[in-house]
Amino acid sequence: MLADVIDHLTCPVCRERLALAEGTVRCERGHSFDVARQGYVSLLTGSAVPGTADTPAMVAARADFLAAGHYAPLAGRLARLCADADASVVADAGAGTGYYLAHALPGRAVGIALDVSRHAIKRAARAHPRIGALVADVWRPLPVRDASVDVLLNVFAPRNPSEFARVLRPEGTLVVVTPAAGHLRPLVERLGLLSVDEDKERRLEDAFGDRFTKAGREDVEITLDLSHPAVEAVVGMGPSAWHTDPGTLAEGVRALPDPVRVTASFQITTWTRKPS
Ligand SMILES: C[S@@+](CC[C@H](N)C(=O)[O-])C[C@H]1O[C@@H](n2cnc3c(N)ncnc32)[C@H](O)[C@@H]1O
Ligand SMILES: [Zn+2]
Repeated sequence: MLADVIDHLTCPVCRERLALAEGTVRCERGHSFDVARQGYVSLLTGSAVPGTADTPAMVAARADFLAAGHYAPLAGRLARLCADADASVVADAGAGTGYYLAHALPGRAVGIALDVSRHAIKRAARAHPRIGALVADVWRPLPVRDASVDVLLNVFAPRNPSEFARVLRPEGTLVVVTPAAGHLRPLVERLGLLSVDEDKERRLEDAFGDRFTKAGREDVEITLDLSHPAVEAVVGMGPSAWHTDPGTLAEGVRALPDPVRVTASFQITTWTRKPS
């Protein structure tokens, strides 16, 4: 609930602290934001929502696919990292439906879910009783207090290294999950999906190297036997959903074995803050 995390949040307009009062979130200077019926609040300012927000169809596909437990081993690894860090505040930048954050809250830890998609954040608000869910743009200043987060998750989502460094406690950990080379083979070749950029690892170093030191790297590989509806969901929830014609996709899926054996490959990197 928002009440669990409100002390860690800041007004997106003036950066003052926020408080909850009668269905609104408000700062001392009087900027106020309505809490939605579903329990989340939008702290977006201005009218432009980035075109990268997941659509309702993508969010529904993601919710179905994750609820089936296909990526549970990855959620388990993230939970272990948060427990090992003894985290009491975990934030997730680009949290989507809140699936990973909900699995990653150890003990009495609270979770801050940030995503620019209202459809996703509605679900994140319900994903765990100690999640506070915010509509916010990761490419803008985050509505989160300086040095307030123990572990910041960033799972297949946009990044903002300077803001990530600002909101993390000095001894905090940034956990970044990216698809690894070979992710979703053989679907990538068979269905003509976007493939993983081979330079991804170097690009992560370039993005984070100024403010963070890489502390660890782990590869997670999951073998899945996916039904055709599950294949459609995994394609529909990912970046290829923006580029794939539904008719062509359905035809490609029909030509696959049912179930089809698919490998999901991820890379988890952990980063600690450089002294600022
Ligand atoms: C591939 S999904 C990953 C979601 C979640 N981390 C997961 O793995 O289930 C990418 C997410 O980033 C969100 N997103 C895209 N652009 C964003 C931005 N500028 N600020 C915040 N979230 C953004 C999308 O709405 C989407 O939920
Ligand atoms: Zn304010």
